[in-house]
Amino acid sequence: MRILGVDLGTQSCKAVVLGDGFAVRGEHAVPVETAHPGPGQAEQDPRAWERAAEAAIAGALKASGDAARDIEAMGVSGQLDGCVAVDAQGEPLHPALIWQDRRATAELAGLDAARTFALTGQVLDPSHLAPKARWLAKQVTGVARFHQPVSYLVERFTGVAVLDPAHASTTLLYDLARGAWSNELLAAFELDAMHLPAIAPATSVAGPLRRSLAGLRTGIPVAVGTGDDFATPLGAGLFTPGGRVAVVLGTAEVVGALAETPVRDPAASPMVETHAYPTGCCFVENPGWLSGGAVRWVTRLLGLADDRALDRLAATAPPGSDGVVFIPALTGAMTPVWRSHARGTLHGLTATHGPQHIARAVLEGLAFACRDVVERLASLGLATDEVLLLGGGSRSPLWRQIRADVLGRPHAVASNPDSCPIGAGMVAAVASGAVPELPGVAEPVVRVEPGADRAAMDDAYGRYGRLVTQVAPLGDSPW
Ligand SMILES: Nc1ncnc2c1ncn2[C@@H]1O[C@H](COP(=O)(O)OP(=O)(O)OP(=O)(O)O)[C@@H](O)[C@H]1O
Ligand SMILES: [Mg+2]
Repeated sequence: MRILGVDLGTQSCKAVVLGDGFAVRGEHAVPVETAHPGPGQAEQDPRAWERAAEAAIAGALKASGDAARDIEAMGVSGQLDGCVAVDAQGEPLHPALIWQDRRATAELAGLDAARTFALTGQVLDPSHLAPKARWLAKQVTGVARFHQPVSYLVERFTGVAVLDPAHASTTLLYDLARGAWSNELLAAFELDAMHLPAIAPATSVAGPLRRSLAGLRTGIPVAVGTGDDFATPLGAGLFTPGGRVAVVLGTAEVVGALAETPVRDPAASPMVETHAYPTGCCFVENPGWLSGGAVRWVTRLLGLADDRALDRLAATAPPGSDGVVFIPALTGAMTPVWRSHARGTLHGLTATHGPQHIARAVLEGLAFACRDVVERLASLGLATDEVLLLGGGSRSPLWRQIRADVLGRPHAVASNPDSCPIGAGMVAAVASGAVPELPGVAEPVVRVEPGADRAAMDDAYGRYGRLVTQVAPLGDSPW
């Protein structure tokens, strides 16, 4: 078996060549640029995604030593909550507004958050596709369709505009109980179902590849695929409810657990949403705050070479960072209440603090936000006894230990933290008939237990909670 999996991440596009048993035979990543034309704005060039995907595929083939003609099928996954406006030929009409972009806040005015939550399981938030589509509809003419980033790529590769139910359930336009676009919400956002992709299972074929990418045979099946929030746990073997809670440390930090049926967070301001999931159950998740992206930010701020240098510096500060607390809201807050206008906070600074305290405080603050969500999932009755840690940030031994101490739960670190393109490949293998069903996969290799710093981290989490309560009202309106 030779299957290609592609993951269009926020910071890079990755591709893997998978062989028998979904073993990774070769992988390659190509950077993706983000432009921030204004505060709260984040754009990427859809054309650059195609170039990055093709280069990543070529690199993965080279690394695997496999011939392009031997690839039997491909699947695409990637970042959620973007919006691309395309014309009738599928050509982009505007830069993509990616998940970090919050310019469409005004497009939510007058909508009923409780009604939207009841229909979609989603928080009425400008990060989602519907308000972005409404905003774009006012900026550009000749729009034929609005895409998520993954469905955009799939249309470019196959000519077919389609996306899976899990993806659809992140748009604020999907009726979760009926499993179809909601006419009520389409009307509320002044959109039409004909301006959205069709809905089909992630594990079905979107269409044959219509042009040769990096030497691939035209005509090979391209799967419908799914979003990275779903493909990442899928690729690490999270198929059925009752297992671990997944924490994905990518650019964003995604925290979620599987459930048989939709779970509604009863809080006045829900912290978690319910989405469909490619195995037919539901994924109850907080779609995440800037996390690995915040690590990158502080690494640059402190003039350090890379993430590992940040880890080495942070390791020299004590647990609790001598009272320095970071609230991770660099692109708005996602816990304990979603607040678009919230901004990051570094609190508790004195003249005795050094860069090491700031470095550690950022890693700790990101783990505190994770604890907020995991405790909410636990209170909703979901299995959270153990964390399955995924994504690039799970490579950091220091951060793993901080997280086990802050959450007071063992952390299982996946054998391959980049499980998203593997999940995309699994979906393609099922779609093409290369395997009859989603396979079992290898168990995580490393288990990290809460350690001696747990009490100190509990105190620090308490400080964080008190601080969040104090500063949160500042995030309720623009400065
Ligand atoms: N040793 C480390 N310590 C801390 N963070 C790390 C380390 N190694 C990688 N990271 C973080 O992992 C992140 C990259 O993870 P990943 O490749 O999963 O993201 P992505 O797929 O581009 O983003 P996303 O999935 O959110 O679109 C970076 O932001 C980086 O800061
Ligand atoms: Mg990713």
